[in-house]
Amino acid sequence: MEIKLISGDITTLKVDAIVNAANSSLMGGGGVDGAIHRKGGSEILEACIKIRNKQGGCDTGQAVITTAGLLPAQYVIHTVGPVWQDGNHQEAKLLRSCYLESLRLAEAHSLKTVAFPNISTGVYRFPKPKAAEIAIQAVQEYARMYQTKIEEVTFVCFDQENFDLYNHLI
Ligand code: APR
Repeated sequence: MEIKLISGDITTLKVDAIVNAANSSLMGGGGVDGAIHRKGGSEILEACIKIRNKQGGCDTGQAVITTAGLLPAQYVIHTVGPVWQDGNHQEAKLLRSCYLESLRLAEAHSLKTVAFPNISTGVYRFPKPKAAEIAIQAVQEYARMYQTKIEEVTFVCFDQENFDLYNHLI
């Protein structure tokens, strides 16, 4: 599994799945969630509503998969990151779970290329240095633990601070 780092807008990527930093309602929001729903169109929200009707929303640390609608990607994997409180509320464990569960879902759908935003580092205020470490470690751990068929994982940084942090760590 190759790990790549780019800066830019995740909604423009032609990969099998882009990961969305969603909220537990799955009803869209701001940040990358807003961009994905805005550019992906109503098909994504309709698919989210179906999941919500079936299983309620999506718990923190878990992930669900939908069509990517009008986006160049095929699928959107919606995962819900933890809101940063003080570091004593399982935030690190839950953020790690977002990456592992998203990869597990991609694997289950035989996807080869997956792109992640910097989950929880915007509205959810997770400290970027720690979040970057957790994200990279989780993806490397997944590649070590499983005979994965996922060929490429791309970290997409929208802001320079995250890019510099990931660049230093990778
Ligand atoms: N492409 C890639 N990354 C993006 C994009 C984009 N188009 N837009 C924003 N980002 C980056 C932000 O710069 C940040 O580094 O995504 C990262 C995550 O920030 P948020 O989108 O605010 O997500 P998060 O911190 O996980 O908060 C989730 O915000 O938008 C709401 O509905 C969402 O309630 C949920 C919460």
